[in-house]
Amino acid sequence: MGKTTKKAVSICITSAKGGVGKTTLILNLAGIYEVLEKKVLLIDLDVTNGGLALSLNKPYKKNIYSLFEDISLNIHNNFSEYVTKYDNYIDVLPCFTDPRSAGKISNSLIEEIIDRASFLYDVILIDTTHLLNELNLYTLDAVDKILYIIGNDAVNLKNMKSIIKIFNDLKIDKYKILLNNSYNPYKDYFSLYDIKNIIKTNIDYSLSSQFFIPNIDSYVMNGKIITLDKKVPKVYGKDYESLLNIATDLLVRGDDTNE
Ligand SMILES: Nc1ncnc2c1ncn2[C@@H]1O[C@H](COP(=O)(O)OP(=O)(O)OP(=O)(O)O)[C@@H](O)[C@H]1O
Ligand SMILES: [Mg+2]
Repeated sequence: MGKTTKKAVSICITSAKGGVGKTTLILNLAGIYEVLEKKVLLIDLDVTNGGLALSLNKPYKKNIYSLFEDISLNIHNNFSEYVTKYDNYIDVLPCFTDPRSAGKISNSLIEEIIDRASFLYDVILIDTTHLLNELNLYTLDAVDKILYIIGNDAVNLKNMKSIIKIFNDLKIDKYKILLNNSYNPYKDYFSLYDIKNIIKTNIDYSLSSQFFIPNIDSYVMNGKIITLDKKVPKVYGKDYESLLNIATDLLVRGDDTNE
């Protein structure tokens, strides 16, 4: 039985530059939501590598493009037919693998996916590339919240500064910024003070360099989620706690205050 009333919170995880740990963070947040007994849909919009289903080691038959084709043909199957189940809490909607499909996916499809999924899940996490292309702009527009990941890196910070300026001009304020020091612990040239000065806004969350996981590839090869590993809360206590805070904070909707 699906949910019938409360809508999921939809969150797009993106960045101003590639390779800053978006896909890893999505999987880690999904693990945390599972611990919190929330139902999660992961939507993969990274056409370039289809990383989510790969990282979870799940073979799949249907993807976003199957849904698009069926809707175009007026075939209305249950949403659950298009997703791949990871476990009892986490489902994945894999990305199409042919980049030419991106041009056919419309704003309304992204909205329809989020809308249909929002009755079945507590949280929808969307993985993207860092590119400001049409698909990503549609998605940023359609979601409830945007989580920008930045790294301690000059190009990254300069790009982020430009994006924040655009968001301010467009009066978009549904974004939060996470400083990720975990994927490359040797990059620590700028202090937090410098970073805030460069991007001209606050950092909402951060992950420390202590959360660098040396054997991360073994998790990927085995389709395991780091935050679901029983050792992780003990070994990486501080950053695990940060992830819990990020996950719960992102679930709070602006319109929940009167509930
Ligand atoms: N906490 C971590 N510890 C160790 N390695 C990490 C950590 N987080 C990410 N990485 C590694 O850093 C690299 C980039 O991470 P990831 O693929 O999650 O970034 P991304 O922003 O999704 O990249 P892309 O822009 O290419 O989609 C990967 O090789 C990943 O395994
Ligand atoms: Mg990625």
